[in-house]
Amino acid sequence: MHTISIHQFGGLEELIYSKQSRPQPASGEVLVKTAAVGVNPIDWKTCSGGGASGFIQEMPFIPGWEFSGIIEDAGDTDFKKGEAVFGMIRFPQPAGCYAEYIAAPADQIARLPDAVDLVTAGGLPTASLTAWQALFDKGELKAGQQVLILGAAGGVGHLAVQLAHWAGAQVSGTASSHNHELLASLGCKQTIDYRHQSLTEYTNSFDLVIDCVGGDTGIQALPCLKPDGILVTLPSVTKDQVIAAGKAQRRRVEAIRCEPSAEQLGKIGELVADEQLKLQIGNTFALEKASDAFALSKSGHVCGKLILTI
Ligand SMILES: NC(=O)c1ccc[n+]([C@@H]2O[C@H](COP(=O)([O-])OP(=O)(O)OC[C@H]3O[C@@H](n4cnc5c(N)ncnc54)[C@H](OP(=O)(O)O)[C@@H]3O)[C@@H](O)[C@H]2O)c1
Repeated sequence: MHTISIHQFGGLEELIYSKQSRPQPASGEVLVKTAAVGVNPIDWKTCSGGGASGFIQEMPFIPGWEFSGIIEDAGDTDFKKGEAVFGMIRFPQPAGCYAEYIAAPADQIARLPDAVDLVTAGGLPTASLTAWQALFDKGELKAGQQVLILGAAGGVGHLAVQLAHWAGAQVSGTASSHNHELLASLGCKQTIDYRHQSLTEYTNSFDLVIDCVGGDTGIQALPCLKPDGILVTLPSVTKDQVIAAGKAQRRRVEAIRCEPSAEQLGKIGELVADEQLKLQIGNTFALEKASDAFALSKSGHVCGKLILTI
């Protein structure tokens, strides 16, 4: 099967498109013929020696943690050959999703509703599970609350906007001005151009802030929290900084590590099928063009999701 892999950590030049043998599913796993694979910032961070690189025991390493595809071999699981599935698997352990075939734990994948196409499904799992877990598990979101999404146009952000709106919250989001129209169409009541507007006028305004940007951006948003509000910060590399600043300002900060969840993914699939949640596809690339997708993701200004099609 064709894969993208690296033999050592480094830049885009380390990504190699080559042939490797198909994975052998273990008990409780299925073999999936991949249709699409989502690209997330963690993918290029890991290939450059950051991100989840500490979990890599051997090279070559095949990046990628999310996919959609068709069951090729259901093994001893309840799935059936030919079913369409999607999932985020094994994170943060290596999962090998930039490949034509994937061995996936059956308890971490969900059946794909007929109304959802395979390309959308490939880019959905990580960003939607992160948004779900940040809003509802860590952020304890309730209907009627005021929510601010920092980085609202990105992969996680644009789904967090929609899920918060669906849950009955009043949603505000920061983004460059060219993304404001899209955010309004997704349910953002208030869009803030972070390049030209300061957050100082929003002091004590929000029950929940979802920080998809991290570092100084997350820290500068802390005064926007109401006294009992919660800020959930996503980028792991700056989480300690944001947590320390939260402690100093007596604001509650929660860090997050997205967990695979077939149950949550099942609900997310239904929301997409019901057209209550829409994945904005920023760009698609052929698998062998993964380095082009990495370059775009590294720019930090992708709107929606990048997806590799196979
Ligand atoms: N902890 C976890 O489990 C977990 C899970 C998923 C993601 N993450 C992390 O969360 C972060 C976001 O992930 P993602 O997939 O959403 O990334 P992404 O799609 O690459 O985010 C790109 C977006 O960031 C926006 N942006 C950049 N700088 C900004 C700023 N200063 N203020 C507001 N928006 C800004 C851009 O908006 P404009 O183009 O409008 O400027 C762009 O739309 C990444 O660091 C990722 O590694 C963590």
